[in-house]
Amino acid sequence: MLRAQILGLGSYVPERIVTNDELRFLDDKHERRDTIQTETNDEWIRARTGIEQRRYVDNDGKTTCSDLGLRAAQAALADANLTAKDIDCIIFATLSPDIHFPGSAVFLQSKLKVDGEEGCAAYDIRQQCSGFIYGMQMADAFVRAGIYKKILLVGAELHSHSLDFSTRGRDVMVLFGDGAGAAVIGATDSEDPRSGILYTHCQADGSGAMDLYLKVFEIGHVPYVWYDANNRDENQIKYPQMNGKKVFLNAVRNMVVSTQRALKETGLTWDDINWFVPHQANLRINEAVVQYAEIPASKVLNTIQLYGNTTAATVPLTIDHHRKAGTVKKGDLILSTVFGAGFTWGSAIFRV
Ligand code: UT7
Repeated sequence: MLRAQILGLGSYVPERIVTNDELRFLDDKHERRDTIQTETNDEWIRARTGIEQRRYVDNDGKTTCSDLGLRAAQAALADANLTAKDIDCIIFATLSPDIHFPGSAVFLQSKLKVDGEEGCAAYDIRQQCSGFIYGMQMADAFVRAGIYKKILLVGAELHSHSLDFSTRGRDVMVLFGDGAGAAVIGATDSEDPRSGILYTHCQADGSGAMDLYLKVFEIGHVPYVWYDANNRDENQIKYPQMNGKKVFLNAVRNMVVSTQRALKETGLTWDDINWFVPHQANLRINEAVVQYAEIPASKVLNTIQLYGNTTAATVPLTIDHHRKAGTVKKGDLILSTVFGAGFTWGSAIFRV
């Protein structure tokens, strides 16, 4: 019986570390000014979110989301002992694509030097913070159906270029960081129901669509970009907007239910599972999920303190970070639960 398994994992974060203290001095170009640009502080950010620092790409006007994805993809391919030529499908999850279209997967394919007439399939998916688990469900289904044999699943985000570096945008700006993670998912012939990817489940509730969004343009508008992007009175549309409290409550509720459902449907208990890897949006969200879903605290992996919220990248980045630290070992069983804009959410149980 065909089953999907994770053959390799990789991640990448840019070198530049931006602490909470430094953040409030940064201008639109991420350059440090002498005077405070955003009324925020380390104490507020740590207490409300758990974040201590995040990573930003150099603001040289050249780095794109697919560049971050490339670095993570190369690491995952090396970990799997494969090259890009072995891949027959790319799934790229991001909310910060290089340009509006085409999607970032084709740019990544070119950067991996496997484009051309024999180029593999390339999908972009748009499930924001849930992108990696949605992508894993797709990859699992493709592999089980025999459609593709080796899939490169990438979650990458370049947030720092589209944040509002001012007191107006502080509720969102302080949360996000740049980074990427990737997995190579391949086919194996196995009858063992506890091997590879054991379980995926994804859901969405479109009634929350406008509680966390970034418009930039509206295609129903004529012209579809009508504002002066440099005019601060009218350019809020080019920055993400969030109804923070509503997102927070929905995240906790749906992540708890989704996690409990994953255990119920597989018949597994926390004794079977090595690690819980929740999406990294806010440490307080994760602490509440752990409490309400009665998850053993010693099995919870977080990285938000170091990287902030990297949306589609948080799950592979967190696993890879803890793998490099020696915490996560080959063959460990992971239950991951995510929640994000849409609203979208889901869980997966898989061996790394
Ligand atoms: O990736 C998935 C999607 N994202 C999430 O899951 C995020 C979900 N939401 C959250 O994490 C939280 O709602 C936030 C961290 C965004 C905000 O925390 P909160 O405890 O809900 O704060 P709040 O929005 O109720 O704001 C409390 C106060 C306000 O001041 P007043 O009106 O009480 O005077 C805000 O203006 O904190 C102020 N505030 C800030 N102060 C300093 C908001 N942002 C900041 C800031 N620094 N960055």
